[in-house]
Amino acid sequence: MQKLVIRGEKRLYGEIAVQGAKNSALALLAGCTLCSGEVRLTNCPALSDVFAACRILNRLGCKSRYSEHTAYVNAGSISECAVPEDMMREMRSSIVFLGAILGRKGQCELSFPGGCELGPRPIDMHLSALEQMGARITEEYGVLCCECPYGLHGAKISLGFPSVGATENIMLAAALAKGETVIYNAAREPEITDLGNFLNCCGARISGQGTSTVVISGVEKLHGCEYEVMPDRIAAATYMAAAAITGGELDLKNARAQELEAVIPVFEQMGCAVFTYDERIYINCKRPLKAVRTIRTMPYPGFPTDAQAVVMAALTKAKGTSVVVENIFCSRYRHVDELVRMGANIKAEGKVAVIEGVKRLYGARVRACDLRGGAALVLAGLGAQGETEVEKVCYIDRGYENIEKYLREAGADITRMTG
Ligand code: UD1
Repeated sequence: MQKLVIRGEKRLYGEIAVQGAKNSALALLAGCTLCSGEVRLTNCPALSDVFAACRILNRLGCKSRYSEHTAYVNAGSISECAVPEDMMREMRSSIVFLGAILGRKGQCELSFPGGCELGPRPIDMHLSALEQMGARITEEYGVLCCECPYGLHGAKISLGFPSVGATENIMLAAALAKGETVIYNAAREPEITDLGNFLNCCGARISGQGTSTVVISGVEKLHGCEYEVMPDRIAAATYMAAAAITGGELDLKNARAQELEAVIPVFEQMGCAVFTYDERIYINCKRPLKAVRTIRTMPYPGFPTDAQAVVMAALTKAKGTSVVVENIFCSRYRHVDELVRMGANIKAEGKVAVIEGVKRLYGARVRACDLRGGAALVLAGLGAQGETEVEKVCYIDRGYENIEKYLREAGADITRMTG
């Protein structure tokens, strides 16, 4: 069992190169299943979730390997169409393999992802969309069996909510389907744009990715390509919050301001100076932090639910009262109790959390309960007096590449320990 040990109250200063985007890389790796030639994904982050996706690809009979931020995947020899339960459990977002495997093989079997750290994770929209495209889906003892004896065909699909995963699954399934698929009320997250662009690079015909109407004209075959995974906007927001809570100054390389339009103003309200140029974000937080207007998590381009916990960590030390409303997931305040153990004054009930800024946080032994909540505890540790131990680092490693290395290079006192 690994933990991060942090001695806080050190100002962060310097440059951090932001990693490739986890959520994009996972969808792209699933997309490789559709391609007959070799795909080379560069800027692919070294994360446990990425390695889990590569293991799924190998299990399916693809040849995949990972070396120095590049994933090489050749799905020319894909033979299997089932993902075993232990692999599904390892990474809940593996549900995105459903559309891809079905699209390539005409059948797919995987276990129901069930609940996860963020509460129940229903996939009704994914399944209903695939059924509209000709899939027959049955569920027995938690195993989903999907087949399409007559192949997948295009359909006009209206999503009741702009689900990221459902939009990705439909795009993946539709890329090789017969005819045209239109997704109305599609998710507009930048990772959807990245998936559409990647599939087009492999020969797909997709337009409208990044808008609420995505049109996919099915093609016969997809080929391999080389593609660079987009930068991780949530990792960028996390490092901005790290600068804020330590009163520091960071220059983030590979950070796209246009993808953080709902997040940057929150840091400005806190009193940080933010300058954006090229693919960089410079943040300077020398003044004491101030509370902000109500933050409501929303589908993109609204404030991202994935940035809620890390921004909350910074707000624990912002003078005044801040309010957060979590609209996307029902169980996304599990970091609150741990932040309170460190001296934060937060009351969370249902969707709403009220944060009264405190002068000081104090080091404590705390436990990560999920990926972003875990990162929030690391940030709180950076801003706390004394020593903080963050246990269950495995959650943080799912989405942050070597978090302690980047923070240490920027002046943090943080070490990974085993035991
Ligand atoms: C993705 C991201 C996750 C991010 C989330 C919202 C990946 C690997 N994960 O998750 O980091 O927090 O988008 O930006 O990309 N829902 C249903 N039925 C469905 C599908 C979703 O009710 O069939 C609900 C979910 O329970 C949730 C909401 O819709 O309340 C949003 O979920 P969705 O956008 O699908 O998130 P994910 O794709 O799971």
